[in-house]
Amino acid sequence: TNYLVIMAGGIGSRFWPVSTAQTPKQFLDMLGTGRTLFQHTVDRFKTICPPENILVVTSESYTEIVKEQCPELLDANILAEPCMRNTAPCIAYASYKIKKLNPKANIVVSPADHLIEDLDIFRKEVEKGLEFTANNKAILTLGISPTRPETGYGYIETTDKDADIARVAAFKEKPNLATAQEYLSQGGYYWNAGIFFWSVSTIIAAFEKYNPTLATTFQKGFDQLNTPQENTFIREEFPKCESISIDYSVMEKADNLFVQKATFSWSDLGTWGSLWEKSTKSQAGNVSAAAKTKFYESANNLVHTSSLKQVIIQGLDDYIVVESKGTLLICKKQEEQRIKEFLKDLEG
Ligand code: GDD
Ligand code: MG
Repeated sequence: TNYLVIMAGGIGSRFWPVSTAQTPKQFLDMLGTGRTLFQHTVDRFKTICPPENILVVTSESYTEIVKEQCPELLDANILAEPCMRNTAPCIAYASYKIKKLNPKANIVVSPADHLIEDLDIFRKEVEKGLEFTANNKAILTLGISPTRPETGYGYIETTDKDADIARVAAFKEKPNLATAQEYLSQGGYYWNAGIFFWSVSTIIAAFEKYNPTLATTFQKGFDQLNTPQENTFIREEFPKCESISIDYSVMEKADNLFVQKATFSWSDLGTWGSLWEKSTKSQAGNVSAAAKTKFYESANNLVHTSSLKQVIIQGLDDYIVVESKGTLLICKKQEEQRIKEFLKDLEG
């Protein structure tokens, strides 16, 4: 039986000031399609997994938003984290719960904030991945052909460039720029799409081997999962989990790692720049959402406003101009990774 776990507990800080801790980007209509990124995520798995087999792991402060946005999900399948502990504890929580529901379950894990096009290809490739992990004790991830030395992704070195599914030679999470450039010039590397496949027994065996502390926590609370005591256990023990991503915790260490080539169009809508890349642009490369914007002698900007009627931009190239909730951000597109830092300074 197939299960889907959606990780929807991030705060999307690089999309500030639109994405905030109160309403992070996955629950916003970032693309102007009338559906939020989270709703699109649920939609694209609909033919693969019935709603009763979809689990959403999120912060306890977002559980109401999740219910509102996807009323077809079961309340019992919305897992509330009392605090953010990154993706390893998030996946462990869902995995042990699923183990109790069905020890033979086969799982696909997906982020909640990606933009995926070519949905027919996507579905075929997800089904193929699930079939692989149903028949092999493998950790499988989808690999995207890299187009730039992006330092925000995990890199997968394959043992066979031509195979659809190949054993992974090495996994490196978020390398520095020099290393990423080297990978690109060497060839034979994929970006980790962040979409994982495994049977429940395989991922739990991996936690036992590579993160025994985390495994022990959930083994101890196993009897309480899916009972009225679950909440008490999670509130008590979850905050004690080490904050670490699945990529550092398991993917970099595992030896039964496989990669499946992904051929659909994929983008982690992680930053304003990635949204600009994906948007329909004017001839000069400008993108504007919401307010009526007039550009003069300006190119390759992204303007995103919420309460303004009109915006006029003159002599500006390669900038992000975002207005939301009384805040105005004007930032060079190249410097957008620093938005996290600006936000910290404001809060500090
Ligand atoms: N429930 C929960 N709890 N979800 C979380 C948490 C958490 O503490 N932290 C992050 N998430 C969710 C985010 O909302 C997102 O949907 C997903 O988990 C991935 O987290 P990101 O923070 O976006 O990870 P990343 O983009 O830096 O890196 C990961 O994804 C890349 C591709 O998009 C890694 O897997 C990389 O290797 C990969 O290349
Ligand atoms: Mg991401």
